Amino acid sequence: MSQDQWKAVDDYINSVVISPDAALEAASAAAAAAQLPPISVTPAHGKLLHLMVRAQGARRILEIGTLAGYSTIWLARAVPAGGRVVTLESNPMHADIARANINRAGLSDRVDIRLGTALETLPQLAAEKQGPFDFTFIDADRANLAEYFDWAVKLSHPGGVIIVDNVVRKGGVIDVSSEDANIKGVRRFAERLSSDSRVTATMVQTVSAKGYDGFAMALVL
Ligand code: SAH
Ligand code: DHB
Ligand code: MG
Repeated sequence: MSQDQWKAVDDYINSVVISPDAALEAASAAAAAAQLPPISVTPAHGKLLHLMVRAQGARRILEIGTLAGYSTIWLARAVPAGGRVVTLESNPMHADIARANINRAGLSDRVDIRLGTALETLPQLAAEKQGPFDFTFIDADRANLAEYFDWAVKLSHPGGVIIVDNVVRKGGVIDVSSEDANIKGVRRFAERLSSDSRVTATMVQTVSAKGYDGFAMALVL
């Protein structure tokens, strides 16, 4: 089994369950045109986040790592009128592209893009009493993942859901001697998770057009 097959099956999945969507396609095209890294969630993964939010009835969403706002659009479309997505991004160029994409999607009234490194903007959100959030999607640098997760739990209420992207890293998560900051960060997060009595969690491996990876899901108790 190969990357080619994972891509072909993802194309098939897109054709059967993902409706053509001008705003999402324009967001992807703008990200590619600006030569942003091709690391937005896939359409199937974006729709999974969207369905999770709707199934939970979440209204207040936190996202860490905006990039071009592709996942943000999926999330913002899932909240009812009056709902809100606060999304954190440290790169001003990414934030500008995301803002344009979110405006084009007609969602600027419900999305709040906070520019800055997440370790600075998360305590600001807490100080502003922006929480509690119903649903959090963590998808930024992995070096500080354990800290982001800790903030996400603090900013959630019991029943809150936290999804963490890219926790398998082509299987690198089990490499005990890895010097890769991302893998070290995921391992530090996973080790803390096992003893975190505030949550109950799982991790799921995935293959997709983006390769072999996975996500974690935590329920705040
Ligand atoms: N969630 C997006 C992809 C995010 S890619 C999607 O699926 O569409 C990761 C993003 O996190 C990048 O835009 C990167 O600039 C941002 N990022 C990296 N380190 C960060 C930090 N310390 N604080 C905030 N954002 C960060
Ligand atoms: C990378 C980051 C992501 O958020 C992702 O979904 C895939 C890859 C990366 O930095 O390599
Ligand atoms: Mg990701």
